[in-house]
Amino acid sequence: MLKIGVLASGRGSNFQAIIDEIEKGTLPAKIEILIVDNPKAYAIERAKKHGIPYVFINPKEFSTKEEFYEKIRDELLERGVELVILAGFMRIVKKPLLEAFPNRIMNIHPALLPSFPGLHGQKQAVDYGVRISGCTVHFVDEGIDSGPIIIQAAVPVHPDDTEETLSERILKLEHKIFPEAIRLFAEGRLEVIGRKVKIKNYELPDVFFTNPKIR
Ligand code: GAR
Repeated sequence: MLKIGVLASGRGSNFQAIIDEIEKGTLPAKIEILIVDNPKAYAIERAKKHGIPYVFINPKEFSTKEEFYEKIRDELLERGVELVILAGFMRIVKKPLLEAFPNRIMNIHPALLPSFPGLHGQKQAVDYGVRISGCTVHFVDEGIDSGPIIIQAAVPVHPDDTEETLSERILKLEHKIFPEAIRLFAEGRLEVIGRKVKIKNYELPDVFFTNPKIR
């Protein structure tokens, strides 16, 4: 069983998708800890419901970002976490965590990177007028959404889309590709070579390219 630690800031629907796959028996992993940087994060309710230990680490209690990440690192290491999952964690990860988990931190981003990194990827896509957007799971490096890409999935952007309607369409695929990327890691099938990720014996499932008419 792969031991994972999840970091979240809010709603936690991606966290829930991972819990569901584990409970179905289709993802060979165990969530050792949920760490939140926001005491009101709904992800906490999900952890409680599923008997997952959680901790709130208050960024305001630390004088530097590095100290904040040292604390997160220590919580994760103490529980023997092997892979760190950023499930809607709205902060830029700093060195103490990156160095403790090289190529072992995964993030989900609601755009087809390298387009539209940073906050509000869906709004950026709508405002820019692209025809196709989607989501990306990638390993985290010191940049903003710039690390090696593991899997992506595409959705159409319709002329009448708003940030909300596009976000909803993308989110459905986030919930599929994030557990899938974790499964590939758990099965030892991901190898990082430079800025690329090689997936052993893998064909991209059709579901990652949705029907262009989908709403
Ligand atoms: C998701 O759409 C995720 O891709 C995005 O925040 C949302 C979290 O939803 N993450 C980022 O924008 C990170 N840059 P959730 O809390 O329901 O999983």
